[in-house]
Amino acid sequence: MSLNEKANMISSYSGGALRGTANIPGDKSISHRALIFGSLAFGKTKISGLLNSFDVTSTMDALRSLGVRISHDKNNDWNVDGVGVGGFTAPENIIDCGNSGTSVRLLMGAISTCNISVTFTGDASLRSRPMNRVIEPLREFGACAYGKDGNSLPLTIVGAKNPIPAVYRSPFASAQVKSAVLLAGLNTAGETVFTESVMTRDHTERMLSKFGAVISTERTRTGWKTVLCGYPDLKPQNIHIPCDPSSAAFIICSALIVEKSDVLVPNINLNPTRNGIFDTLIEMGANLTFENMREEGGEPVADIRSKFSPNLIGVDVPEDRAPSMIDEYPILSCVAAFADGKTKFFGVKELRVKESDRIASMVEGLRSCGVSVEETIDTMTIFGKGHGSVRGGAICKSYLDHRIAMSFLCLGLASKNKITIDDARPIDTSFPIFENLMSKLGANIKRESI
Ligand code: S3P
Repeated sequence: MSLNEKANMISSYSGGALRGTANIPGDKSISHRALIFGSLAFGKTKISGLLNSFDVTSTMDALRSLGVRISHDKNNDWNVDGVGVGGFTAPENIIDCGNSGTSVRLLMGAISTCNISVTFTGDASLRSRPMNRVIEPLREFGACAYGKDGNSLPLTIVGAKNPIPAVYRSPFASAQVKSAVLLAGLNTAGETVFTESVMTRDHTERMLSKFGAVISTERTRTGWKTVLCGYPDLKPQNIHIPCDPSSAAFIICSALIVEKSDVLVPNINLNPTRNGIFDTLIEMGANLTFENMREEGGEPVADIRSKFSPNLIGVDVPEDRAPSMIDEYPILSCVAAFADGKTKFFGVKELRVKESDRIASMVEGLRSCGVSVEETIDTMTIFGKGHGSVRGGAICKSYLDHRIAMSFLCLGLASKNKITIDDARPIDTSFPIFENLMSKLGANIKRESI
């Protein structure tokens, strides 16, 4: 192993109770959207609480190369000088979206109805992820796409000159697909219609409506149907980004499994399309309380208190809950290892096309830590043996996947032996202050010495 490789390793150890208040950074999904919709409104949008992470920087850099001016001010707010719907200009170079699926898929949608061509690429993880789920609906608007092997990055989108509105029913439960279609619909005359069988996160719909678009969602016999009127005159906004429930989940779940922990995580967005993890943890017997419930910027928000919960039980997590907790399965599988009995995730095949194949990554790492796990294409089962049962003592691979890296570090906080992550760099894509925040709460997380 080279010194460089060793420098990227981090280990977590049991022992330190987590106590105190954890201020979580801004929501990643909402941060991407605030930048993109701010770019599509004429004039200056101000954003506070924007997540400062590699994924969000990928969106920001991409928008700059499409002709948008974005600057940072002394109050730590971001100002976006929007170019209006259809106002993007052709970039000088290929756009590299790094690790960020949300950046590339949403921007492909926005480009697909502009009269420009853009080539996107990304890191090894992003280049291995399927893009046909977005390309197919964008072709209905009249866009063309030329990807490596048809379906992967590097990929060139040639925007439609005279876009036609699409009426699309998505075979995937994916907010990225929905958002790409709605973004394409903005620069298209007429009504774009998108239907999904289970409702995925609705930040795009909420934010478009705030910017002044005419957009509505109704439940029909066959699913959730969203209708967007094209060519809206989007008006710049002041946007405050709430804290990210997906990042908060790592702290909340760690407190549940580490003895004597008691952590307060303020201002967490409890949007019903994102809060499946909390419903599941409560079913498992987690000691969670939701304090100071309120509404902020049209989103339900609460301060969440999480305390050590020694009597967790295994549960079935139904398929229709998957979209509302899709990013939380890796950390939930760690909590399930400390529950009594079997926890089974149903209908989770989407996890196989995330930053890594998250079922395979978790199964491999959990097994190496002594946890008994089973997988099928579409399910994952963890055979929990209760508090204090996890052996640990392994090096787990993060596979360029931030949520895998953080999940195993959390697991190590309650395992009998330390757990080491081979490469902690992916954590910076969504939660760069994770290590620091956890250490301040009392977690025993250390860089490997070189
Ligand atoms: C996201 C949607 C989800 C999620 C991702 C962020 C978004 O992906 O996993 O981290 O911001 O729209 P899918 O739409 O592919 O489920």
